[in-house]
Amino acid sequence: MVSLQIVKQSNAGIASLPHGLVVLFIGATSGIGQSALQSFARHAPSPRIYTVARPSTFASHESLLASLRQSNPTATYKLVEADVSLVSEVDKAVNRIIEEETKIDILFMSAGFMALEGRKDTSEGLDPSMSTRYYSRLRAVQLLLPLLNKAPSPRIVSVLAGGLEGPLNEQDLDLRDPNNWSSWNSSVQATTMATLMLEKIARENPRLSIVHWYPGPVDTPGLAKIQKFGMSFPNPMSQEEAGERAVFFTTSDRYAVQEGLLPVPAGLEVAKKSGGGIFLLNPQGESTDNEAVLDEMRRRGVDEVVWNFSQKVFTACNVQARESKDEL
Ligand SMILES: NC(=O)c1ccc[n+]([C@@H]2O[C@H](COP(=O)([O-])OP(=O)(O)OC[C@H]3O[C@@H](n4cnc5c(N)ncnc54)[C@H](OP(=O)(O)O)[C@@H]3O)[C@@H](O)[C@H]2O)c1
Repeated sequence: MVSLQIVKQSNAGIASLPHGLVVLFIGATSGIGQSALQSFARHAPSPRIYTVARPSTFASHESLLASLRQSNPTATYKLVEADVSLVSEVDKAVNRIIEEETKIDILFMSAGFMALEGRKDTSEGLDPSMSTRYYSRLRAVQLLLPLLNKAPSPRIVSVLAGGLEGPLNEQDLDLRDPNNWSSWNSSVQATTMATLMLEKIARENPRLSIVHWYPGPVDTPGLAKIQKFGMSFPNPMSQEEAGERAVFFTTSDRYAVQEGLLPVPAGLEVAKKSGGGIFLLNPQGESTDNEAVLDEMRRRGVDEVVWNFSQKVFTACNVQARESKDEL
């Protein structure tokens, strides 16, 4: 277990990171992502930080950015309006960033929720708990790959449930049949597809360091919503600690395929990667092993099936978005 003290010591070195890192946060309007943004932005030297908010949280996020501007005037913030439960909105937001930047150093993704109120599809016909936790994240990664590959030490961090992958419903990948869908099944499906896709991307882009973190229960607005459904989580991690830990996974070379950001703390070694080449981390930042589930799926080429399916979903979402724009 990496102690919080080591995490904080490492994070104190953020001020010595290269100037001008370009960072995109998706999900920083609340919870773990928000604390990670606050912790990173406080000390990073002249970063260019993009962050995404949907209309309902745009104003409050703008206020947060105003306070961050005061604490670190060297940083530049660009707030992009997009509802990331819609794949076509991710396309629009990311394409705007691609127009402005020549590289992306860090992509941090933590949008998502558990659909305990049942499945209420988006206008694109997707379960938003799956689009925020899987489709939109994969789409952002896919579109940003050229820019990530231009950064000296690119890193992707996805906060969800790395290591908790389970059997995939391969016949109904988006759980369209109501008999296949439940809030739990959609969580396992999103997590498993996410890990398979992040591993495929890691194999095809060997300079990319990719972290998929399971934070365990964290005391966030997201957890508070779940608790209203009668679930209880004794001793959750504080949101601030989760933010600090997330920033450690984002900036320490302990979770990197090559050196380039902050050195591995004394007494620790580079974390072990999954069989598919990414860092699957438990709440305390140690590598977890879910080979019993993942190895068999990799050998059967399930990742290619999931990739092809996801590409068809992305095409359909963008075709539909164009058609509804034409109708206006
Ligand atoms: N907290 C935990 O105990 C825990 C444990 C394991 C895994 N996780 C996962 O870790 C991630 C971060 O969790 P958190 O607790 O920090 O969550 P949170 O406080 O609820 O924040 C979630 C983020 O996702 C966005 N989001 C939620 N629903 C959305 C929707 N329908 N459409 C568009 N955006 C939406 C939120 O945007 P708005 O601010 O606009 O609502 C916010 O930016 C989530 O994927 C969660 O499933 C959390």
